[in-house]
Amino acid sequence: MKNKLIIGLSVILLSSCGVNNSSAQPSVSHAKDESSVASENTLVAYFSVTGHTRPLAEYAKEHLGADIFEIVPREAYTEADIAYNTDCRANKEQNDESARPKISAKIENLAKYSTIVLGYPIWWGQAPKILYTFVESYDLSGKTILPFCTSGSSPIGSSATNLSKSAPNATWLEGRRFAAGTSKELFCSFLDESLGK
Ligand SMILES: Cc1cc2nc3c(=O)[nH]c(=O)nc-3n(C[C@H](O)[C@H](O)[C@H](O)COP(=O)(O)O)c2cc1C
Repeated sequence: MKNKLIIGLSVILLSSCGVNNSSAQPSVSHAKDESSVASENTLVAYFSVTGHTRPLAEYAKEHLGADIFEIVPREAYTEADIAYNTDCRANKEQNDESARPKISAKIENLAKYSTIVLGYPIWWGQAPKILYTFVESYDLSGKTILPFCTSGSSPIGSSATNLSKSAPNATWLEGRRFAAGTSKELFCSFLDESLGK
């Protein structure tokens, strides 16, 4: 089983693009008024190292007319940091219950959002530990959170339910896993079904 996972992960590593730690400014970018389902109280927050999760977050921003916040690590992940067939930083963090990698910026006015669409890559079957840093940095009581993830092949599995334990007073909707390169149409139908649009 473990061997299969390692082989699977190696395939994913070979097929994935390189580190693309980001780009966007580490702050909230505000929605334009162009969306037909504009919802000023929705925030899309996401973490993406190799760039697979980012386009889906951008689709959500456009489709929902939402603001967007990229969870940018204070210490960027290098290729060596995510080389998961080694004793890399990402693996060490995932194996460390107390690891909470720092985020480079904080959202000042999270109170204005009632819904958060939260995107992340699967790392060893779970959300990267920086997602725990994110949800534990705010009072998410009463907010609705829609998680989604990208992965090589693993399902969302227990990743969102485990993460939800760090923000138990929020309402966590059922999340879903998407492959890299998922179409905007498919992703947006998930958003509409989940958020009741
Ligand atoms: C440390 C690490 C662990 C990973 N673990 C898994 C895994 O358990 N299952 C899987 O299908 N993919 C796994 N992957 C692949 C990523 O989930 C996948 O490439 C994802 O789409 C990357 O998203 P990003 O490009 O937005 O960072 C792992 C990648 C890394 C770097």
